[in-house]
Amino acid sequence: MTDSSPFSLEKDALPKHIAIIMDGNGRWAKARGKARISGHRAGALAVRRTVSTAAQLGIQALTLFAFSSENWRRPQDEVDLLMKLFLHALQREVKKLHKHQIKLQIIGDLSNFSPALQKQIAKAQALTANNQGLVLNIAANYGGKWDIVQAAQQLATAVERGELDASQVDESTFAKALCLSDLPDVDLMIRTSGEQRISNFLLWQMAYAELYFTSAFWPDFDEHRFAEAIAWYVNRERRFGCTGEQISQLLTTASE
Ligand code: IPE
Ligand code: IPE
Ligand code: MG
Repeated sequence: MTDSSPFSLEKDALPKHIAIIMDGNGRWAKARGKARISGHRAGALAVRRTVSTAAQLGIQALTLFAFSSENWRRPQDEVDLLMKLFLHALQREVKKLHKHQIKLQIIGDLSNFSPALQKQIAKAQALTANNQGLVLNIAANYGGKWDIVQAAQQLATAVERGELDASQVDESTFAKALCLSDLPDVDLMIRTSGEQRISNFLLWQMAYAELYFTSAFWPDFDEHRFAEAIAWYVNRERRFGCTGEQISQLLTTASE
């Protein structure tokens, strides 16, 4: 933000942590008479746009739901194509993310992924681990229930080993065992495509998130729609008369 800005929107009015359920790729493709995979490809472009906007706005953390623990139930062809797309995106985009100081983290049960994908994930995370810009979390084979269970297992193991007393298990020790424990909880959760549910995304971390639903399909989610969602959040939290245009203007000043 610069002083020449015609409005006074402090950076700390913006959400620190935004989580997005990127939904509607299949319906976007269907509406165009195309195969579902073309929707996923268009969705990958929307991911790139969204990451770039979040980074320009100086958002601390962006967590994107890319593949849920339930998505394995989709037809094998689609699962295979999604995995391929994920691998290619990692190979192609990581250098660019690194150049922009973005720290990439993949959250979820990675054990089900192919060795090639696991290797690429480890490489990407190691390369960007010390970056100081946007923290970009991609939730892949992630489920909110899985996260809570794996945290409970960690704590139970620590108790079993005598490293922790059962009476010491409280909200704070539990939260530390969950994914994303090093980040603030989610302030704003966005879901595209008109569905209004959480679909086993971050459960604990979204306990107090503002929930924003838009009917736009994920491939149509652009800078303007993102700005609208953020303005909605700012208005709810701060009761400002903030508009999407004002958020977009922050983008212009950020890139100057
Ligand atoms: C979201 O789009 C992407 C993933 C879940 C991988 P969908 O594939 O769920 O698209 P719809 O909901 O069928 O339109
Ligand atoms: C949620 O979308 C998961 C992702 C965006 C990766 P889905 O389209 O899989 O969710 P449901 O099954 O319709 O709730
Ligand atoms: Mg869907």
